[in-house]
Amino acid sequence: MSERAHWLAGRVAVVTGASRGIGRATALAIANEGAHTIVAARDAAALDATVGAIRDAGGGATGVPTDVSNAADVDQLFRIASGIGPPVALVCAAATLERELFDEISLASWEHTISVNLTGVFNCCRAAFTPMRNAGEGRIVNIASLSGVYATEKFAGLAAYNASKYGVIGLTEGIAVEGKPFGITAISVSPGAVDTDMLRRANPALRATLVPHQVAAMIVALLDSPLSVASGANIPLFSNA
Ligand SMILES: NC(=O)c1ccc[n+]([C@@H]2O[C@H](COP(=O)([O-])OP(=O)(O)OC[C@H]3O[C@@H](n4cnc5c(N)ncnc54)[C@H](OP(=O)(O)O)[C@@H]3O)[C@@H](O)[C@H]2O)c1
Repeated sequence: MSERAHWLAGRVAVVTGASRGIGRATALAIANEGAHTIVAARDAAALDATVGAIRDAGGGATGVPTDVSNAADVDQLFRIASGIGPPVALVCAAATLERELFDEISLASWEHTISVNLTGVFNCCRAAFTPMRNAGEGRIVNIASLSGVYATEKFAGLAAYNASKYGVIGLTEGIAVEGKPFGITAISVSPGAVDTDMLRRANPALRATLVPHQVAAMIVALLDSPLSVASGANIPLFSNA
């Protein structure tokens, strides 16, 4: 049986939230399949470390310090990506989580969570849409959460985070509808508890049942599939242990 190249091989991929955690693991896994991987987050030194790890493994990567809630930053990110090649793969992993009881959430805190977790995904998907349409193909994976899925366990202090993740799932469905005529697919994945800084800060008592590279492997598998008939779906990720 012949070995087929991964769809990502030779393409340009953008991964946000790539300075640590799931985004970093996903960037490494994508680069390992032969994509030039543009890694974005705010922490420039941590991004350099991600780029260094990818290059040490023989891959290609470019770091672009970016605040995803800032549309000008995101436009600059996609300008740099497009200078390397059409950014036809996008993984939105960047997010923030502030744990605050509902009646203590300030408007500023609510707006911060929504601007990073939901508007940040909007900014990136919107900036990616035109180059994907021009290329005649595009595959988007947005990381939502079980916190954005009805009838899964919810935790006190996460109302803003939950709302932002419900929004990501709805936004992804909308992009899937409009991307269809142009060969653009969009999927959301909703992990449970993954062993990262975010989980440790949010809920130190909660036992992680997934590690970042398991989520990364799922995302890379999704990016290798046309998925057009499933575009818009949200895939909950539970432990297989
Ligand atoms: N860990 C879990 O249990 C879990 C479960 C379900 C879903 N998720 C989701 O999985 C994704 C990754 O989370 P994680 O657990 O890997 O969290 P993490 O370790 O805290 O990483 C979050 C990433 O987002 C980046 N980020 C935060 N604010 C940003 C901003 N304004 N602009 C650009 N980048 C920003 C951070 O980089 P900088 O600080 O350098 O900007 C970092 O790279 C998130 O969407 C999260 O909601 C996580």
